[in-house]
Amino acid sequence: MRYESIDVRPLTPHVGAEIFGIDLTRPLSNHETEEINRALLDHLVLFFRDQALEPASLKALGRHFGTLHIHPNIPGPEGYPELLPIHADANSKRVAGEMWHSDVSCDEIPPMGSILHLHTVPPAGGDTLFVSQIAAYDALSPRLKIYLDGLTATHSGEHVYRSHNARDGRAETGKIYPTAVHPVIRTHPVSRRKLIFVNPMFTVKINELPRDESDAILRFLYTHATRPEFQARFRWQRNSAAFWDNRAVQHMALWDYHPQTRSGFRVTITGDRPF
Ligand code: SIN
Repeated sequence: MRYESIDVRPLTPHVGAEIFGIDLTRPLSNHETEEINRALLDHLVLFFRDQALEPASLKALGRHFGTLHIHPNIPGPEGYPELLPIHADANSKRVAGEMWHSDVSCDEIPPMGSILHLHTVPPAGGDTLFVSQIAAYDALSPRLKIYLDGLTATHSGEHVYRSHNARDGRAETGKIYPTAVHPVIRTHPVSRRKLIFVNPMFTVKINELPRDESDAILRFLYTHATRPEFQARFRWQRNSAAFWDNRAVQHMALWDYHPQTRSGFRVTITGDRPF
C-alpha cells in the first residue's frame, strides 16, 4: 500500500527507512499517525531529519503512538518524568546503550517503541546501529526454529542498572530492579511475524536449559541476530529523530566520539506482554 502523507525511502531491504515530508513538531493528524505506524511495521525503524523537537513537543509526539513509559531507573528532567536524557560529553565514563539491546526488556511489559531526538551531535561519529530480529529469525535453520520454539528466557535489569548507578553516583538503597520471563522467540503482536527476543544486555538465561547449554545457545543467537546484513546504521545530524519498534529490533549506540558532546531525549511508548 502506498503512503499519502509521508515520503518513505527504505535504507536497507530488512530494516530502516528515512521519512520525509512531515513536521513532527506539530500535532499529527490521524492519517499521519496511521501511516507512520504502518511505515514502522514495514521498516522497523524510521529516521527523520530537521525536527526541532523540544521536551513538550517530543512528549506530545510520543503520545500519538501510545501511553508513555517511565524508566524504572533513570529519572527524567524536572516536570518531564517520561523523558529519558541521553547524554555524553568529555566527562562521561560510559554512555547508555553501548551494547546490543532492546529497551527495558527486563520489564514484564517491555516498551513497544522508543523515539530518540538529538539536539547536539558530535562533528563525526555517534551513529546508532539497528538490527532486525525478524530477518534474523527468518534466517535460522528449520531445525533450530523447532528447538527454540517454546523456550523462555529471564531478563534482568539489576546488573545493568546497578552498574549505571555506581557510575553516575545515584543512590541504590532499597531499589527493586525489574526482572521478567519472556519467550525466546516472540510473535509480533501486529504483523504476527516471529522474531528473536533475547539480547546481551538484559537476558541472563534460557530457563529450560542447563547453564552451559543456555550460555552456548545465547552466544550463538547474539552473534547470528546482529549479523551486518540484518542491520542499518544511522548517521545523526542536529535535530534528527529515530523511532524504532522495540519489539522487533535490537539497537546499539556507538561511543566513538569522546570527548565530544552528544545529547538529546528519548520517549518510550508502553507495549504489551510478549507471547
Ligand atoms: C538507547 O536508547 O539505547 C540509546 C541510543 C543512542 O543513544 O543512540
